[in-house]
Amino acid sequence: MKKIVILISSRGSNLQALLEANLPCRVAAVISNRADAQGLEIARKHGIQTAVLSHKDFSDRAAFDAALAATVDGYAPDFVVLAGFMRILTAEFVGRYAGRLVNIHPSLLPAYPGIDTHQRALQDGIKIHGCTVHFVTADLDHGPIIIQAAVPVLCDDTPQSLSARVLCEEHRVYPQAVRWLCRNQVWLDKAGRVASDRLEQPGSALISPGLE
Ligand code: GRF
Repeated sequence: MKKIVILISSRGSNLQALLEANLPCRVAAVISNRADAQGLEIARKHGIQTAVLSHKDFSDRAAFDAALAATVDGYAPDFVVLAGFMRILTAEFVGRYAGRLVNIHPSLLPAYPGIDTHQRALQDGIKIHGCTVHFVTADLDHGPIIIQAAVPVLCDDTPQSLSARVLCEEHRVYPQAVRWLCRNQVWLDKAGRVASDRLEQPGSALISPGLE
C-alpha cells in the first residue's frame, strides 16, 4: 500500500476530507508549520502521527525547506500532499519530490494563482469559479493539472459564500486525485504532462447563470 504525508498550516478541512475518504494508502504523518493548526487535532483524532516544524525557527526559506524535506523523508512517503500548506516551497524542495508532490488551489488555474482568489474572482465578475488539484512545480500555482471542479458564482456572493461553495468541491476532488495517484492511474510523464490510464469520464457542462 502506498504511503502519503500531508502538509498543512491551519484549518485542515481538506485533510479531514482526505482522512475520511477511505483512500487506498496509509497516511504516515501530518506535518504542520504552525503548532496551532486546527488540522493537527483532526489528525490526532484519526490516530495519525503529527509533527510540527515552525518556519520561524529557521533563518531562511532554504534552511526550513531542507529541514522539512528531512522530516518528510523520515516517513518515506510515495506522495506528499499539500492541504492548505501556506508556505512557498523552494525549487530544490519541489524538485526533490517531482511527480510526487500535489496541491489543491481554490481557483480554476491558471486563473487566479496566489491568495485572495475568491475576492479577486468576485471583483472581476466572473460567472464560473472553482478549484484545481495539480502537481507542484517551481512555477507557483501553475503545475500540471490533475482535476478541476467548477461552481457558479452567484450575484449576491461574498468571498465567504463563494469560498464555502468551492470548498465543498475541494473536499470531493482532492480525495479523488489522491486515489488515482495511489492506484497509479494518474502520473506525471517524462514530458511533465499529466498522464492517465483510466477511462475518461466526461463531466457535464456548467452554464452560469443557468439558461431559462
Ligand atoms: C483551501 O481552500 C485550499 O484550496 C487552499 O487552502 C485552503 C485550505 O483549507 N490551498 P483547509 O485547511 O483544507 O480547510
